[in-house]
Amino acid sequence: MGRVLAQAEPVMPDNQEFELTDKDFKFIQWFMHKHAGIYFSDRKRTMVYGRISRQLRRLGLQRFSEYRQCIEQDSHEQARFINCLTTNKTQFFREYHHFEFLEKVLISEWQQQKNRRINIWSAGCSTGEEPYSFASSLHHAHAFELFDYVNITATDLDTKVLETAKQGIYSDEAIDAIPVKYLKPCFVKGVGAQQGKIKIRHGLQNQIQFQQLNLLQAWPFEHEFDLISCRNVMIYFDKKTQTELIERFYQQLKPNGVLFIGHSESMPGHLNLFHHLGHTIYVKK
Ligand SMILES: C[S@@+](CC[C@H](N)C(=O)[O-])C[C@H]1O[C@@H](n2cnc3c(N)ncnc32)[C@H](O)[C@@H]1O
Repeated sequence: MGRVLAQAEPVMPDNQEFELTDKDFKFIQWFMHKHAGIYFSDRKRTMVYGRISRQLRRLGLQRFSEYRQCIEQDSHEQARFINCLTTNKTQFFREYHHFEFLEKVLISEWQQQKNRRINIWSAGCSTGEEPYSFASSLHHAHAFELFDYVNITATDLDTKVLETAKQGIYSDEAIDAIPVKYLKPCFVKGVGAQQGKIKIRHGLQNQIQFQQLNLLQAWPFEHEFDLISCRNVMIYFDKKTQTELIERFYQQLKPNGVLFIGHSESMPGHLNLFHHLGHTIYVKK
């Protein structure tokens, strides 16, 4: 039998610019789990150190313990601290099969069900590429003409990414991820100071309401949703939080409502609330 090699732990640099003790790291683990549901294992310590260093440098501090005081006393600093520790990676039309399913299956299902008002929730929308992709898909499939009312609610915990999302302006590198058929009808090219950038068309932007929302806290919605997309968010949560969240999504969906989750996420085996249609698409039972 070969020798079992222990997986190498990421090594913290010897000459650390700032002090981050074991106690500090435990506090960060506790704080992020309590306030955001995000769990950082010990293996994430180097990543956490790197992200927090930027905040300490900005404030001219030497130790995390000093920063902790700022977080505890100042709610704006607390938001910045949480923002710097969230992972916001996203792109237009990520996991394209969800958009195909919306255009080719869901819209005709809604028509057959004589559903006139469509509500969609992009939960954990990051910088907005996901809800704008939904808006583009809906436009492409003529959903705004087919139904009396179509609304997309887009939420995130991170206040900074929401600012970008609300602007709806992206660098031209983002274009690479957008299938050509959506480009002209849904986006405009920037001119002057915005040269080289793209912006979602006004009409589509107006279909989306962005708001800050912590998925762990109470949700303000008075209506149920036809579609909830919570993709690549739960992966940062522990199993218990994931299960609780999926149960709450179930409650927040209309009968036959659909839930999209991310490619590396899964439905807890013991939950018997959804039919699985494959490809991380679930229908409420
Ligand atoms: C990796 S991004 C995924 C973006 C998009 N859904 C996608 O799949 O491309 C995860 C997002 O979840 C947000 N998030 C993390 N914890 C959250 C929480 N407790 N409540 C709401 N949003 C949260 C982060 O701020 C981040 O923008």
